[in-house]
Amino acid sequence: MTTAPMSTPQPAGTERSAAEEARISELTAVVTGAASERGIGRGVALRLAAQGRPLALLDLDEQGLATAAEQARAAGSPAVLTAQVDIADQGSVDRALSAVEASSLPPVGALISCAGIANPTRFLDTTSEDFLRTLSVNTLGTFHLAQRVLPGMLEQGLGRIVAMSSTAAQDGGGNFSTSAYAASKAGVEGLIRGLAKEVAGTGVTTAAIAPANIDTDIMGGRLEGERREQFVARTPVGRLGTVEELGELVAFLVGPHGGFTTGATYNLNGGLRVG
Ligand SMILES: NC(=O)c1ccc[n+]([C@@H]2O[C@H](COP(=O)([O-])OP(=O)(O)OC[C@H]3O[C@@H](n4cnc5c(N)ncnc54)[C@H](O)[C@@H]3O)[C@@H](O)[C@H]2O)c1
Repeated sequence: MTTAPMSTPQPAGTERSAAEEARISELTAVVTGAASERGIGRGVALRLAAQGRPLALLDLDEQGLATAAEQARAAGSPAVLTAQVDIADQGSVDRALSAVEASSLPPVGALISCAGIANPTRFLDTTSEDFLRTLSVNTLGTFHLAQRVLPGMLEQGLGRIVAMSSTAAQDGGGNFSTSAYAASKAGVEGLIRGLAKEVAGTGVTTAAIAPANIDTDIMGGRLEGERREQFVARTPVGRLGTVEELGELVAFLVGPHGGFTTGATYNLNGGLRVG
């Protein structure tokens, strides 16, 4: 049995125009995980805000979102909407994105999926519920978001889907999180690759970013003192990464010149894992 591809690529011989992709900058960028004060989602939101991009900021934490929105407006975003969401819950994702679509924001052009959870539980102590929760947020959450924004992107013939993986997907983790987390992020990378192929030729592209040792609070709280020294010592370039550096990479991927890369995983790990 053969299955038809979901996407409708342009007829053979019709060349896409790179110039047309410049309109991506006018469309709304949806950023999840933006509530965390020192987190990657916040860094991404503020980088895109500084470019004057309209933003929809999504997270579980409403209070954090309010601060993020205030900062994004101050940084230069012309329009910011926030919506509370549990990305593990498909209905919740649908409601949040429906609110974005019903607002006065431009159509969604980019999804940057940064919301996620760590899991440092060792393998033999990991319960089935714990494993499933990690997958439900990190992997299924990415699926829910991407599936909800994709139809609009296909219709407008332009869209960028970027999801946070982790170096753990490639090296099994252990820097902080362990196997359940590594499995959840390997799933994100597979999803991003599969989706890239399915939608190739439609104007929608995908990317995964695999960070490690970015200076946020996800690895059991703020990295300070001896613990920080240990993380730095394990990072070949000799320092932790910053959310600003990650935001810069995202700005490229969801910007007017990001349309010729799809399905790739971008490592941002200070040399922790090369290749
Ligand atoms: N910081 C790093 O070094 C690093 C390394 C590898 C991967 N990552 C990945 O990057 C992403 C962001 O990490 P961070 O360091 O900014 O983490 P963080 O803990 O600072 O932020 C995570 C955000 O996700 C939100 N969130 C968690 N579960 C949610 C849910 N079910 N629905 C909606 N929102 C939810 C939280 O409220 C929080 O605002 C994560 O996916 C993480 O796995 C980070």
